Amino acid sequence: MIEILEKIIKEAEKDISLIKNLNDLENFRIKYLGRKGELTTFLRKIKDLSIEERKVVGKRANEFKEYLEKVIEEKRIFLKEEEKVFFFDYTLPGRKFWLGHKHPITQVMEECVDIFVRMGFKEEQGPEIEDEWHNFTALNIPPLHPARDMFSTFYLPDGRLLRSHTSPVQIRVMEREKPPIRIIAPGRVFRPDDFDASHSPVFHQIEGLYVDTDVTFLDLKATLEEFCRIFFGKEVIIKFVPSYFPFTEPSAEVLICCLNCLGKGCERCRNKGFLEILGCGMVHPQVLKNVNIDPEVYSGFAFGLGVERLAMIKFQIDDIRLFYQNDIRFLSQF
Ligand code: PHE
Repeated sequence: MIEILEKIIKEAEKDISLIKNLNDLENFRIKYLGRKGELTTFLRKIKDLSIEERKVVGKRANEFKEYLEKVIEEKRIFLKEEEKVFFFDYTLPGRKFWLGHKHPITQVMEECVDIFVRMGFKEEQGPEIEDEWHNFTALNIPPLHPARDMFSTFYLPDGRLLRSHTSPVQIRVMEREKPPIRIIAPGRVFRPDDFDASHSPVFHQIEGLYVDTDVTFLDLKATLEEFCRIFFGKEVIIKFVPSYFPFTEPSAEVLICCLNCLGKGCERCRNKGFLEILGCGMVHPQVLKNVNIDPEVYSGFAFGLGVERLAMIKFQIDDIRLFYQNDIRFLSQF
């Protein structure tokens, strides 16, 4: 008899390890402890045994029964908890994750770069800590040249500086590569301006440069007009007005109409009608010479876009400081 009992115990131990859910558990209970269960049936037979045998076998069988009841109860509690966790109603709508998103300046910068990349420009990066040569001298702004005032600059104790525009990237690329060159270089720039509604000591520019044989002002105009149309939409009105930069000749500024009044002048644009978004021009022959490109053979155009300006016009924001205050109520609108 004891052998039969040991066999049942062994089998039950094995079955316990296979229980995975409440259904398995119930089947297990019925198999051993149900009315016709193996252990129940066995216990019923004990009364037919001799007193000696009954003592030994009965004790073992009853202990095992108690053990099984305890195990089943514990497993039931555990599996119920587990089913709660894994219970999944496929008909429920998904829960929305709040993941955050890109800063509006990053969004605008990426969008601009993307437009130029589609036109065939290649993205480039340059260092934020620059030297005088790349930030000024090579760009035809020698020391003591009054044009250095156009670009007030943060200097480092070792004579290097924080770039005051992205134009030094032009120089770095032209020093390294031979034409044809067609690059777009987004990045942070620094000027010691106090914060106000339209100034920030750190802001963003996107530099563009195209150098090849026979590049003309028409290429420059067409490229920038096409950019504005894609970025702002078809109805936008843009103006090229003559300007001055030491590294381009001729130079121009591009103005874009206020999107609210389309140039007529309104409260939003403080009656200006048009806002400057970039400086541009034909690369000055001296700049090409400075990087050993022959101006008799090659010509080029360059431009520098103000990213914050673009973002302010596009999203109709009238204070640049909003971009840097990291107020989630502002940022989450974009
Ligand atoms: N670097 C100029 C600025 O910061 C913009 C510019 C770039 C003008 C390229 C002409 C050509 O104002």
